[in-house]
Amino acid sequence: MKLQGARLDVRSVLREGFAQLRGARVPSHTLAAELLLMHALGRDRTWIYAHPEEEVSFPDAEKFFALISRRSNGEPTQHLTGKQEFWGLEFEVTPDVLIPRPETEHVIEVALDRLAVRELRAGRRQKTDGDGLLIADIGTGSACIAIALAKELPGAAIIATDISPTAIAVARCNTARHNVAGRVHLLECNLLDGLHSSSLATSHSPLLFDLLVSNPPYIGRGEGATLMREVREHEPDIALFGGEEGFELYAGLIAEAATHLKPSGLLVLELGHNSLPAVQPLLDTPTWTNISVTNDLAGIPRVLAAEKL
Ligand SMILES: C[S@@+](CC[C@H](N)C(=O)[O-])C[C@H]1O[C@@H](n2cnc3c(N)ncnc32)[C@H](O)[C@@H]1O
Repeated sequence: MKLQGARLDVRSVLREGFAQLRGARVPSHTLAAELLLMHALGRDRTWIYAHPEEEVSFPDAEKFFALISRRSNGEPTQHLTGKQEFWGLEFEVTPDVLIPRPETEHVIEVALDRLAVRELRAGRRQKTDGDGLLIADIGTGSACIAIALAKELPGAAIIATDISPTAIAVARCNTARHNVAGRVHLLECNLLDGLHSSSLATSHSPLLFDLLVSNPPYIGRGEGATLMREVREHEPDIALFGGEEGFELYAGLIAEAATHLKPSGLLVLELGHNSLPAVQPLLDTPTWTNISVTNDLAGIPRVLAAEKL
């Protein structure tokens, strides 16, 4: 589309955006073009569809088509807009963190369900506001899991760790943005090995958690070539790859949970599409009971949960 001298309106630039992304075989090209136009114009979807004849200024059109070109070359839409929704909340994302995925919302659902069941068994009312609960989120990335739980459980305190300092910086922006920085304590460390340096730790009593959640990196190195270009070239290796096989981090996570959960504490882990056969046997010890597996919407076993005896 020749921009200079043309009268550009919302409908025509959006149509051209659709066509360019479709031509570049971008998945979900319609949604991507809409999101990029919303971003370029600083408008929401309702405005865009209510104002098809509205003129688009030359600088805005230039900005939009520059974004379309970057998307056509493989950059994820979320890196271009700087945001992604998760659990109804908007998160800042950069190339330093995994883009939150819809299937990870099952981790939140399972964690909340299991906490509610635990409350019922203890003879308390079913709805918990998390008062007094201590939660760990290992490999927090954008902090999407930690913040969703903090919003659902306003009485809970959360320790969220990540081995990547640049991911922790993004997580910090998100905890501030959602006004939970006072309750979500971020730690840069391997799994939970920096726990002693948390402001919540005291020299006398070790920190014991009611809930430990994690969506660890779980893709095998050998699977790298099968990933979509957007993922392979633009998301951080440290967030994607769990090792040669992919499931290497789970043994360490389960060992940390066995040490750091209270009796009746809950472990909730997101699984890779083929992780279950390798991971479930790790819970086959006297430490764990009430083991459950939850499938995602595609029928893939996605969340493994267990209770510490
Ligand atoms: C799959 S991403 C999950 C991010 C976020 N929790 C989510 O669900 O979108 C895994 C995260 O674990 C972090 N990570 C990788 N190895 C780790 C380790 N040994 N200890 C702590 N965090 C680790 C990565 O930096 C990355 O942010």
